This record gives sequence, structure tokens and C-alpha cells, in this order.
Amino acid sequence: MKGLMDWIEARLPFMEAMNKHVIQYPAPKNFNFWYFFGSLAMLVLVNQIVTGIWLTMNYVPSGEGAFASIEYIMRDVDYGWLLRYMHSTGASAFFVVVYLHMFRGMMYGSYQKPRELLWLFGMLIFLVLMAEAFMGYLLPWGQMSFWGAQVIISLFGAIPWIGDDLTLWIRGDYVISGATLNRFFALHVIALPLVLVVLVFLHILALHEVGSNNPEGIDIKKPKGSVPEGEKSKFKFHARYDKYDIVDAVPFHPYYTVKDIMGVAGFLILFCYVIFFAPEMGGYFLEKPNFEAANPLKTPEHIAPVWYFTSFYAILRAIPHKLMGVVGMGAAIVVLFLLPWLDRCKVKSVKYRSIWHKLNLTQFVICFIILGILGAIPATPGRTLLAQITTFGYFAFFALLWFYSKNEKCKPVPERISK
Ligand code: HEM
Repeated sequence: MKGLMDWIEARLPFMEAMNKHVIQYPAPKNFNFWYFFGSLAMLVLVNQIVTGIWLTMNYVPSGEGAFASIEYIMRDVDYGWLLRYMHSTGASAFFVVVYLHMFRGMMYGSYQKPRELLWLFGMLIFLVLMAEAFMGYLLPWGQMSFWGAQVIISLFGAIPWIGDDLTLWIRGDYVISGATLNRFFALHVIALPLVLVVLVFLHILALHEVGSNNPEGIDIKKPKGSVPEGEKSKFKFHARYDKYDIVDAVPFHPYYTVKDIMGVAGFLILFCYVIFFAPEMGGYFLEKPNFEAANPLKTPEHIAPVWYFTSFYAILRAIPHKLMGVVGMGAAIVVLFLLPWLDRCKVKSVKYRSIWHKLNLTQFVICFIILGILGAIPATPGRTLLAQITTFGYFAFFALLWFYSKNEKCKPVPERISK
């Protein structure tokens, strides 16, 4: 066995890569609850891909067959209901996990230098994930699939000059039809998942190049020779870490493999609870109009996207001018890409930052949640006003951050992680 392993290792250094990226990866010793969500995002990605493959075995990607094939999966295919609920609940779980993962990055300044590229890969993942979820939602060919896609695709029509041609190009028809369903199916089952997997791979490579941040925002890499011999952590497979003294770190395995398994167990308890007892989640994970087949002649009374899009949808609706609404919604996502350059503070963790930053981050979260609620319910004049105020709060977060972060008065950051 050892001979075989050595033979492989000499040709493909698999164990060397495992040691470098998993077993001996130097991880700060103070990871907390918020650091569960990266590994959980990977778990949910695998769940989506595996359940998606099995769903595809019985799904019929055509305007005539799609809705009936979902009913067939739910009623007649052995464990088809389980596969479908794992996939639909998995989609919502993906966004719960990714939103919490992003918020962790915002709290601890994990997007700041030298992790800008890591953040950019994360944002690209987020963008592709949104496209993936949007296209997947058309596939059951229910009322909300059809009309939701109708609303979103028609937004491209607001773009001057090319708008009409662009919507035609996206739909592949003059209306949303089987042709649209076919292309969304192709993109949803193979093209976008491939892109996602590649991006996640790059995300992890970018992370391991610079090393993980941590809740204190303290760098575990110290200048070579600055740390007494007994206090250094030793990581034999990381040649690039020879340039530094590494402190306050533990090898990823077994410390965080074991800790992450705990996170996985907690997550699976909640995940299974939803799958078995509340798979529709009161119409938030699977919307009620989607139990009716798509009907181009009957508009549902109230069209709302699934919960994970509602904050951005509320920003779109808050702005009365259609084109400006689309621009506003796009800007709400683009501005997140710019975060590493908008935040000019040298201190990373919110723990050591000013009260202004703490308040600003809090108001941002409150605005985002209120927008999420408003986007899910019908608009009234009062609600539109609230959506306008919270849209302002959303963008104000970034503008204020840029403004105060340059000369922010922060608490002194300790040299070393103490716990
Ligand atoms: C499929 C989706 C994603 C997967 C599988 C994923 C996976 C991971 C993993 C495994 C880690 C290391 C463990 C951890 O720090 O939690 C990580 C770190 C990180 N991710 Fe993601 N991620 C995803 C999406 C995102 C998104 C959307 C963003 C933000 C735009 C993002 C930003 C970050 C940052 C900043 C870190 C470093 C955190 C730190 O060191 O403090 N990730 N990601």
C-alpha cells in the first residue's frame, strides 16, 4: 500500500496538497460560530449538485412536460419528494448560509487588504448563485415560475436602445416559452454549477494564499524573527510560511475538522426539520401559486420573488422610474464588490472599531431585513416610503463608511490573539 501511495505521490502530489490545504493549514485558534458558514456553504453546494443530478433523471425540460414531471417526482418516484424538498430547501439554506457568511466578512473586515481578491471571488459566487437560483425557479413551470421570470426578464427591457432585443435574446422567443425553459435548464444544470465549482475552488485558493482572518482581525503571520522560539507555531508543509513566524494558529485538522462537524450536525438538525415538517415554510421556500401550472393568460394576484431576492426587489420597487429602479438594484449589488476599497480603516474587526462603525453596520442590517420584508408583501404608499428610507439607509452605509473610515478612531488592537 505504501509503495502504491509513494508511486502516486511522486506523480501527483495529492497528500502534499491535502497537507497544505486541509490537514496542516494554519488556522487562527479563535474561530467562532461565524466561521461555520464557509464549510456549510460547501456542504450545501454538494447537496444541491447531488440532489439536482437525481431530480434531472425524472424531470422533463419542456413547456408541456415540466409541471407534470415535478408532480410525478413528488408522487410516484421513490423518495422523489425527499430529493425535491432537499433541493428546494437547499436553495433557501444556501442563501441563509451565504448571507451569514458575507455578514461575518463584513463584521471582521475580512474583505480588507490582503483579502480583496478573495472577497471579489465571493461576490462573483454570490452573483452566479443568484442567476442559478433564478433559472432553477423557472423549471417547475408553475404560476410563480412563469410570472416571476416575466417580471425579471422584462427589467432588461428598460435598458435604452438594446433593451427589447436583449429580452428577446434572453427568452429565445417573443414570450416566455418552452424555448426559455430549455435554455434555463441547460444553464441551471450544467453551465452555472460548473462556474460555481470553479469559483469556489479559486475562492479557497485565494484564501489559502493570504491566510484566514479571525474575529479579532489580528494577523497570525508575524515578521520573521520577531517571535520567541517557544511561541511559534510550526507547520511543516507550508514552505511559504517559512518567510514568517506563525503564532496563535492550530492545524486545521483535527481542530477545525472536528469543530466543523459540530456545525454540520447543528445545521443538519435544522435542515432536516424543515424538510420533514415545513418544506414549504409557509409559502416562503415554495410559493403557493407555484402549485398551479404556468398560465400565460392568468396573472397571479401578487407576484413576489423568493425571500432571498426580496431585499433587492424592494430597492427596485422603491424607485418609481423603471430604468432607475433597475440601476438602483444593480448598484446595490455592485457596491458590495467595492467594499474593500470603500473601507479605508486599518483596523479590521468591528470589535476594535468606532461606535460609528458599529452603529452604521447595525443600521445596514436593519435596513436590509426591512427591505427583505417589504419586497415580499404588496406595495402600499406607506410601505413604498419605508422602502425608500431603507434603500437610502442601505446605500448610506457605504457612503458613510468611505467617509469616516479614513480617520476613524479605533480601540488599540492587541498584538496577539489572547484566547
Ligand atoms: C458557494 C458559496 C461559498 C462557499 C462554498 C464559500 C466557502 C468558503 C470557505 C470554506 C471559507 C473558509 C472558511 C470560513 O472562513 O468560513 C471561506 C472564507 C471566506 N469567504 Fe467564502 N464561500 C462562499 C461564498 C462567499 C461569498 C458570497 C462571499 C462574499 C462576498 C465570501 C467571502 C469570504 C471571505 C471574506 C472569507 C474569509 C473569511 C475570513 O478569513 O475571515 N464567500 N469561504
